Amino acid sequence: MDKRSFLQLIGLGGLGLGTEWPWIPSWLEDTRTDAEFWDKVRADYLLTEDYINLESGYYNIIPQPTLKALQKHIETINVRGSHYMRNDQFPDKKRIIQSLAEVVGCSSESLILTRNTTESLNTVIKGIPWKANDHIIFAHQEYGAMQQMIRQVAQRFDLTITNLDIPMHPESDEEIVAHYEALIQPQTRLILVSHMVNITGHILPIKKICDMAHGHGVEVLVDGAHCIGHFDFNIEDLDCDYYGSSLHKWLATPLGCGLLYINPKHQETLWPLFTEDYRMTDGIQRFGHQGTHPVYHDLAIEHAITYYKALGPQRKEERLHALATRWMEALRDHKNIRLNTPAQQQRYAGIGNVGLKTIRASELAKQLMDTYGIFTVAIEGAGVDGCRITPNVFTSETEIDQFAQAMLQLASTA
Ligand SMILES: Cc1ncc(COP(=O)(O)O)c(C=O)c1O
Repeated sequence: MDKRSFLQLIGLGGLGLGTEWPWIPSWLEDTRTDAEFWDKVRADYLLTEDYINLESGYYNIIPQPTLKALQKHIETINVRGSHYMRNDQFPDKKRIIQSLAEVVGCSSESLILTRNTTESLNTVIKGIPWKANDHIIFAHQEYGAMQQMIRQVAQRFDLTITNLDIPMHPESDEEIVAHYEALIQPQTRLILVSHMVNITGHILPIKKICDMAHGHGVEVLVDGAHCIGHFDFNIEDLDCDYYGSSLHKWLATPLGCGLLYINPKHQETLWPLFTEDYRMTDGIQRFGHQGTHPVYHDLAIEHAITYYKALGPQRKEERLHALATRWMEALRDHKNIRLNTPAQQQRYAGIGNVGLKTIRASELAKQLMDTYGIFTVAIEGAGVDGCRITPNVFTSETEIDQFAQAMLQLASTA
């Protein structure tokens, strides 16, 4: 791709920015081997030398091209001020939602931008027109803040809740679906379920859970915090009712970017979290109001998408999966090591969790950092005692091997 068509692709005409735009990934125009390709990607990141970062699960730092694009947007909007906000903000947002809808596989009429998964899921949890005695199902492995918000609405609207434990090493999708189905009652209204369990990296069979739930008249709210830009799927193929995600995780947008998909059949009944002074009833528009906020972060979503497309969604997914497989296979058979992520290939992507049978996860995380300079996060709870290991597109195989060696040493000396 030449520079001119690349600039057209990323839609810079509207901003009046010329070819000096500092955004072209250095590796984009090169054809290279896989190893060279990932070296070039790594070179697009400014990485600390203080530690090996195996904790990209909280948020993904962004590559320099996206960062530079963000900086440029901040500068431009700081010149244009209210003129930008009044004239271009909303057409730009519409265009960004269209690009995003194409990436995530749904209609732009079902999608809004939010700040993060928290805002997306809270919109749904607080916006469902609850009736007393409605019943909600979710697993202990769900993200804590979402569990807490459900408990709060349960208290407020007199709802009931049942929890389950997701099997860590299931034999089949059907085993997982059966765990949810067993808890359904006549009053069950909603299942909250993660597409990827954040503490273990376990990918759940969402489509099958949705099919089962809909057979009982139950809606499904999917927490996809870790999934957009991580592995390839279409939201509409899942047939869910609601889907929330944080784009600052795997799509590598700047902090504070999220999405919410609302199935058209719920757009008339769900209460919006934020309201506008007009447009009470027209579909997805009811939900998109955000107030005045750092719109340049939203503008950078387009650049993150372009970077993601340049990586290739499939190539990125395969790389992350390969990095995870590399360390998991190196550690799987050690008698003191416990893998807290299913072994079946289709049940994980980049994230995995591993513990030592001899020490708690918090101690393991400390030793990994203090002795080996490897940054991870300890998870202790919901049936998990291990460190979450989250490489990224900038992670090298050497770093993965260093981590595996450190684990083997700790496992043998513990
Ligand atoms: C499963 C899950 N849901 C929701 C969230 C909240 O994401 P955010 O803080 O971006 O809103 C996280 C954050 O890590 C998560 O792992």
